[in-house]
Amino acid sequence: MAILKILQYPDERLHKVAAPVSAITDEIHVLVQNMTETMYAAAGIGLAATQVDVHQRVIVIDVSETRDQLHVFINPEIIASEGEFDYQEGCLSVPGIFEKVKRAENISVRAMNLNGDLFELDASSLFAICIQHEMDHLMGKVFIEYLSQLKQSRIRSKLRKRQRDAKS
Ligand code: NI
Repeated sequence: MAILKILQYPDERLHKVAAPVSAITDEIHVLVQNMTETMYAAAGIGLAATQVDVHQRVIVIDVSETRDQLHVFINPEIIASEGEFDYQEGCLSVPGIFEKVKRAENISVRAMNLNGDLFELDASSLFAICIQHEMDHLMGKVFIEYLSQLKQSRIRSKLRKRQRDAKS
């Protein structure tokens, strides 16, 4: 297993659209293992393959306090959603920035697991928010893109400055 490098906004590769996984190969197993290890090491609650520069529709999520309830979604699709919920979101690709985003409160998702079987799952509140946030990554969308242009450009310059400072 390996800890993968997480792309940092405003890296352009975060805007690539992920392709569906066509078969559960050894490569996908390794990807999921590495993504899981990377998410836990970074103390995150979710990670999309896009964030580690692999542009395939794979996400891992664990919103439990005990960090032992891993969910793997391959080719996830939202098949129903209702309600509205806003939550102060953060992202491993946008460190130190937390902003409220409006999402559906309850969703039903259909996805494939690592055995290649389709499953459906209902999620609400934080779990539902997290799934929607990670699925956005697969579409090349980062959560701060829901904010005003002004806020986005402030965040971009803040992060660019921080990345420059870290290099020098
Ligand atoms: Ni994120």
